[in-house]
Amino acid sequence: MRLKIIGTGSYLPEKIATNDDMAQLVETSDEWIRTRTGIGQRHLVSSSEENTTYMAVQAAKRALAASGLRAEEIDVILVATVSGDYVTPSTACMVQRELQAVNAASFDINAACAGFLFGLNTVDAYFRSGIYKTAIIIGVETLSKIVDWSDRSTCVLFGDGAGAVVAKADENGMLACLQGSDGTHADVLTCKARTNNNPYISTSKELDYVYMNGQEVFKFAVRKVPECLELLLQGTDFSPEDVDYYLLHQANYRILTSIAKKLNLPMEKFPSNVDRCGNTSAASIPILMDEMNRQGQLKEGNLLFLSGFGGGLTWGAALLKW
Ligand code: ACO
Repeated sequence: MRLKIIGTGSYLPEKIATNDDMAQLVETSDEWIRTRTGIGQRHLVSSSEENTTYMAVQAAKRALAASGLRAEEIDVILVATVSGDYVTPSTACMVQRELQAVNAASFDINAACAGFLFGLNTVDAYFRSGIYKTAIIIGVETLSKIVDWSDRSTCVLFGDGAGAVVAKADENGMLACLQGSDGTHADVLTCKARTNNNPYISTSKELDYVYMNGQEVFKFAVRKVPECLELLLQGTDFSPEDVDYYLLHQANYRILTSIAKKLNLPMEKFPSNVDRCGNTSAASIPILMDEMNRQGQLKEGNLLFLSGFGGGLTWGAALLKW
């Protein structure tokens, strides 16, 4: 048995901040942001109730409704996030409570923008081993709370939102998947957690924000995604042309075009919502998947290649039949 997606859902905050809105905050312009990133706007939470848990719950409820399963039938809930509301409990436990998914083992995954793929991989392994038969996998981020809103090199890139899938153990679906990490490049993309001020150590109480070496991330993504594709296609009869859609982490449109060019594939195979959503890290792939699914773009039997890449460094990929 393997992972098959049977329902999708997503949530985007109603509040939209355009590039012109960004230009009111920092020295930037719509032209700079669009040409470098393809981003035109991003959704941002705009009340304290609209937090990471809330967005995850909304996306999960929609995915659950689409799947036809009841909450108590779910065996495991995985939430990929770096921006949970609490250090403990996990966002997954908060989602479990809200859904009343009383039978679900629930935990979070911290693998940055690759987190949703790590979730899919983990659930697929559970299904193959027979431990669990049903799951909700969520990618959710409130990146707006860990971004420095006076730093133009990062604040214009990110957005808030959540995407979720419900999966069940099936004979079809996941064909192959992989995940990996390279901690030797941990400093390429960082955001420190709380500092320690116990009686014996005194560190700065200042909060840290997202730091990124953009050009290193760019090079890493453009190298790693084709590598993952090659690895996953090995041992199958498929070629890159056979993949109907490449659902890649929506970091930056230029990353997508560079990968498409490297693979010699048309951009029609690389759907994108980065112009409307910005970079929502772990949430970007399931949000895109839900939008395509609800628009009827994903047809039964379609071959999909999914890949996420980000801080850690981390990367994950999956080849699956819809
Ligand atoms: N508006 C105007 N100018 C800006 C802005 C901005 N928002 N941000 C940076 N600049 C300026 C810089 O200050 C710098 O000015 P200087 O030459 O006077 O010092 C100049 O633009 C060039 O800065 P770079 O950082 O070199 O810009 P670069 O061309 O590399 O573009 C970008 C930055 C878009 C982030 C690029 O590196 C990139 O595409 N990286 C890919 C990584 C990415 O998108 N990451 C997203 C998050 S990580 C993830 O999801 C995995």
